[in-house]
Amino acid sequence: MTTPAFVFDHWATAHQQRVETVLARTLPGEDTLPERLHEAMRYAVLGGGKRVRALLSYAAAELASAPPEQADSAAAAVELIHAFSLVHDDMPCMDDDDLRRGKASCHKQYDDATALLVGDALQSLAFEALANPGAAQALKQVQVLAKATGSRGMCGGQSIDLQSTGKLLTRNALETMHQYKTGALIEAAALLGAYAADHTYQPLIDTLEQYSQHMGLAFQVVDDILDATADTQTLGKTAGKDALQEKSTYVSLLGLDEAKSLVNALHAQTLQLLAGFDNKADPLRGIAKFICERPF
Ligand code: IPE
Ligand code: IPE
Ligand code: MG
Ligand code: MG
Ligand code: MG
Repeated sequence: MTTPAFVFDHWATAHQQRVETVLARTLPGEDTLPERLHEAMRYAVLGGGKRVRALLSYAAAELASAPPEQADSAAAAVELIHAFSLVHDDMPCMDDDDLRRGKASCHKQYDDATALLVGDALQSLAFEALANPGAAQALKQVQVLAKATGSRGMCGGQSIDLQSTGKLLTRNALETMHQYKTGALIEAAALLGAYAADHTYQPLIDTLEQYSQHMGLAFQVVDDILDATADTQTLGKTAGKDALQEKSTYVSLLGLDEAKSLVNALHAQTLQLLAGFDNKADPLRGIAKFICERPF
């Protein structure tokens, strides 16, 4: 009997739908007090986004031989943290962006104070979702996600981003900024998926760390490229903002062609890294291709 060929699009759609259902039942209902805050939280999280981080959690779980139901809380938790980061990233005190995922950003639809609280509450909800005493490696998942979210991860990267505006960073400093603001959560997404398994082996964790360091960087470089090349309607967020706000990006430092070459090189290195793995790594290969070749 032959195994059917792996089709990434089918796998991705099924897991995007899966995490959407988990998120919808994890978020408090709009009729739960305080209704306005819960409505705004659901507005910021549901019905949009590529769900790349959730896909990474499910893909890493598959590599670690954990069934998807064991990875649901990891997938939901990383998407909740990501949505929190976007809500705050769009606020006037940060990137001041009115459009997110094709609709008004949270502070525009509601107000600044609500957006602030939405971010706070989404962060708490992520850890609540993860803290399952029955799961063998839940504490490890909490530790990894906490570090990736905080000052030595996403929040730290956002701080560097804001401080670097209008400055010319060295390539090393730019790489550090990208690894913190985007890479850390991408890496946490993969590791949380692996830690959804009852046991994990260190070589698998090492591979996932290297995979996600390459893909975390590639993901933000592609985001920078698309900011400069795609249009607002395609992106669902305001195009051309990085240049306007004098953000330090790979495009501003290296130019478009070199930024694209870097993404191709990271893609090739990542496929090389997975070369020794069987078809359990197919979802990770598919995600790498999606990240590096996505048109929007
Ligand atoms: C945008 O992330 C912000 C970055 C870290 C580059 P995504 O491109 O994953 O946003 P959604 O979730 O698909 O909207
Ligand atoms: C955002 O980077 C990174 C985080 C939200 C942590 P960007 O500011 O480039 O993201 P977009 O382009 O607004 O989605
Ligand atoms: Mg930003
Ligand atoms: Mg932004
Ligand atoms: Mg961007």
